[in-house]
Amino acid sequence: MEAIVAVYSDWGIGFRGTQPVVVRADRKHFRAVTGDAAVIVGRRTLADFPGGRPLPGRRNIVLTRQQLEIPGAEVVYTAEEAARAAAAHERCFVIGGASVYRQLYPLLTRVYVTKLDVRPESDSFFPDLDADPAWTCTEQGPWCEEDGLRYCFCTYERREPTAAASGAVSLVEVDEENWLRIRELTVGDSQKGFLDSPLGILARGYVYRGRRARVIGIAEGGTIVGVALVKDLDEAPACYDLQQFMIDSRYQGRGLGTQALRLILSELEAEHKYDCAEVCVSREDAAALRVYEKLGFADTGYVDEDAPDCLNLVYRFRK
Ligand SMILES: NC(=O)c1ccc[n+]([C@@H]2O[C@H](COP(=O)([O-])OP(=O)(O)OC[C@H]3O[C@@H](n4cnc5c(N)ncnc54)[C@H](OP(=O)(O)O)[C@@H]3O)[C@@H](O)[C@H]2O)c1
Repeated sequence: MEAIVAVYSDWGIGFRGTQPVVVRADRKHFRAVTGDAAVIVGRRTLADFPGGRPLPGRRNIVLTRQQLEIPGAEVVYTAEEAARAAAAHERCFVIGGASVYRQLYPLLTRVYVTKLDVRPESDSFFPDLDADPAWTCTEQGPWCEEDGLRYCFCTYERREPTAAASGAVSLVEVDEENWLRIRELTVGDSQKGFLDSPLGILARGYVYRGRRARVIGIAEGGTIVGVALVKDLDEAPACYDLQQFMIDSRYQGRGLGTQALRLILSELEAEHKYDCAEVCVSREDAAALRVYEKLGFADTGYVDEDAPDCLNLVYRFRK
């Protein structure tokens, strides 16, 4: 789960139910980052939106303890319920306010922070990520200026997901017990264009068995949450071909994909057969590109005539 927030220089985020200082560029940035993802918002912050209405064009999950009907929103009554509702979406952003950020903080793996170089009086705060060693700033844009106010866009990532954010991920062999569960895995509509169906992945594993294809189940605790297909590349350079990789949409956005890929890469490296693994990723699959980039995959620049929309990425094992 991700969050997006605009903070003042003391990590204040609001005063008396509203943001005392805003920049227009941040509104634009908010729309660009959250896109059509789902958002989790507290009832008080919702009241501060234009007309007190949910954000248009996306799923709004609103937290309240009151029996409310909010047109255009899914109303939830506990933080756990909000987290469950979020898990059904490919991407979900916690968008405030302070009490909601605080409660869902352990589940956050990435936070988009707009820093405003100003310190108005605040009564609501976001945790100071610069002071929390569990977080690292992975991206800091240049300082810009709007109406004399300096601001910049930063991205923070959790160094190691918390137990709550990650669960325990393991790789499991596909067997007579679990293959039906693999068949039931689903991904969001946007990923369907790039990924084979789980049944297709199982079938490919069978068809390519002569090329040492292996279908790998991905589990969190005892539950199958994803599947991958790795085979030997049948042409130069000698390499592993990470053909398919999916995490069920209900479990996305919690860092499970990153953990599973790390495990797969370390198993392949331990075989000492090839010195790299390749993957072809659609340029449009932003979620997957982020995971591969984070793990150290690099663009080879090669364009496959059969898949011109894909970036060819390679991960080199340490010697
Ligand atoms: N700078 C930024 O990026 C940013 C972003 C968002 C908000 N803000 C600021 O944050 C401030 C608002 O924060 P806030 O903490 O006062 O309010 P909030 O988190 O937006 O909303 C609090 C409300 O959410 C509901 N709620 C919270 N936890 C719940 C739970 N576990 N179960 C059920 N309902 C729950 C309750 O609604 P009911 O009262 O209806 O029961 C509660 O009163 C404002 O100043 C706003 O401008 C800043």
